[in-house]
Amino acid sequence: MSKERNIIIFDTTLRDGEQAPGASMSLEQKLDVARTLAKMKVDVIEAGFPISSEVQFEACRQIAKEVKGPVICALARAVKGDIDSAYNAIKHAAKPRIHTFIATSDIHIKHKFKKTPAEVMKLGVDAVKYAASLVKDVEFSAEDATRSRIEFLSEIVEAVIDAGATTINIPDTVGYTVPSEFSAIIRELSKRVKNIDKAVLSVHCHNDLGLATANSLAAIEAGATQIECTINGVGERAGSAALEEVVMALAVRKDAFPATTNIVTREIYNASKKVSSYTGFTIQPNKAIVGKNAFAHESGIHQDGMLKSRETYEIMTPESIGRESSSLIMGRHTGRHGFSEKLVQLGFSLEKSAVETMYTRFLQLADKKKEVYDDDIIAIVNDGLNLTAADFTLDYMHVLSGNSVIPSATVRLKKDGTSYEEAASGDGPVDALFNAVDKITGIKSKLGDYEIHAVTGGKDAVGEVSLSIIHDDERFSGRGASTDVLEASLKAYLNAVNKCRNRKKKAS
Ligand code: KIV
Ligand code: ZN
Repeated sequence: MSKERNIIIFDTTLRDGEQAPGASMSLEQKLDVARTLAKMKVDVIEAGFPISSEVQFEACRQIAKEVKGPVICALARAVKGDIDSAYNAIKHAAKPRIHTFIATSDIHIKHKFKKTPAEVMKLGVDAVKYAASLVKDVEFSAEDATRSRIEFLSEIVEAVIDAGATTINIPDTVGYTVPSEFSAIIRELSKRVKNIDKAVLSVHCHNDLGLATANSLAAIEAGATQIECTINGVGERAGSAALEEVVMALAVRKDAFPATTNIVTREIYNASKKVSSYTGFTIQPNKAIVGKNAFAHESGIHQDGMLKSRETYEIMTPESIGRESSSLIMGRHTGRHGFSEKLVQLGFSLEKSAVETMYTRFLQLADKKKEVYDDDIIAIVNDGLNLTAADFTLDYMHVLSGNSVIPSATVRLKKDGTSYEEAASGDGPVDALFNAVDKITGIKSKLGDYEIHAVTGGKDAVGEVSLSIIHDDERFSGRGASTDVLEASLKAYLNAVNKCRNRKKKAS
């Protein structure tokens, strides 16, 4: 390959990413993520799977109406009802796309559908024809493509292109393939499918063997021009190809991949923090590009090298992904104007009333903490954005604990202008707080994970708690931030409980 190609970045954080157990986001959060993706200049936003729930439908509809720039795509199985729902959800977008899919591997055809390949072929072709009668831009995915017979895969791809598919997506649905095999599949398809030049060739890789990014890059080398990926690699099971990894690999290794993207890489870090906060999925410290340690140099030899020249141990700068070396910002004397400028710099676009609320939170934080860093601000703003109007919010808490008393807590919550107060005891202060919340909300759940980390250094650092609860076999994640770790725990718990309540309300 000698000519530089532009790679289409298709982000599916709001669809495949949100499908991960416990990763569900509220409507407002989805809209905010979509705006962030548009600012980052992703080419396509897969906004959801409208037939699957009312929230999914509504999120797609609002994103299609509001978010300008990218193509707005919605997912549909290869059935008329799904396609109608996808169309109705995204028809107001300036650039709407319907993405329809059907599995093509013998394993799925036999066990999932109990059909013949010919029947599956007909369903795929009919679905694409119908979608193409509604919108110009139709994507077809051959689910489980990497475990499909290449003969059948080639046949169905050719047929759906004839039927009107403008993008053909080859998913490694179960994260099974390896780079050499995947590039061979892409090359083979390019050879076998006569009309392949009439469609964009795309790939969608899952990370079950930790190979999603490597497989995506191998596909680019073999000629694919669209990559489906998610922020932080969130997605089903072990997740998906991480947008930040694919994009930065292409940016840093232009010599190896003569390909570009339209991504504004300086928006990556903010998007990563936002998705982590909204889904409650913490980022492992050693995660490539966006992990806490991705640019940290601890060993003496490395630090010495870095001081002599950054190039010795740094292949890209933190600034290139919008990660400033945690600049110290204002304190309690900072005015509204300076604060709102900072929010814009950090990638937030908030309504005036929300800026005012965040400013009050900032002042409260500045009162408790001498030095307020960018990461502190990001944490408290995301924490505030985790709330919706119908949620329980914390009004007051009091905890009694020690090594010779039974821990107890009093909690007062507010919802719709009404206060609710309860007291409870527990195995420890956190347990007591959670028990008091359970008494108020009436939601009984089991605590799944619980993690705490300091957003910045120092004893007065903001603590961020991520946890998950399990209710009726469903997992809900939550996150909360405060300089007081008990308050952070309570906020994280409330965040998860609110998600659980909202899900129950929708289901009833
Ligand atoms: O992993 C997969 O196969 C998918 C398809 C719906 C594209 O997510
Ligand atoms: Zn997938």
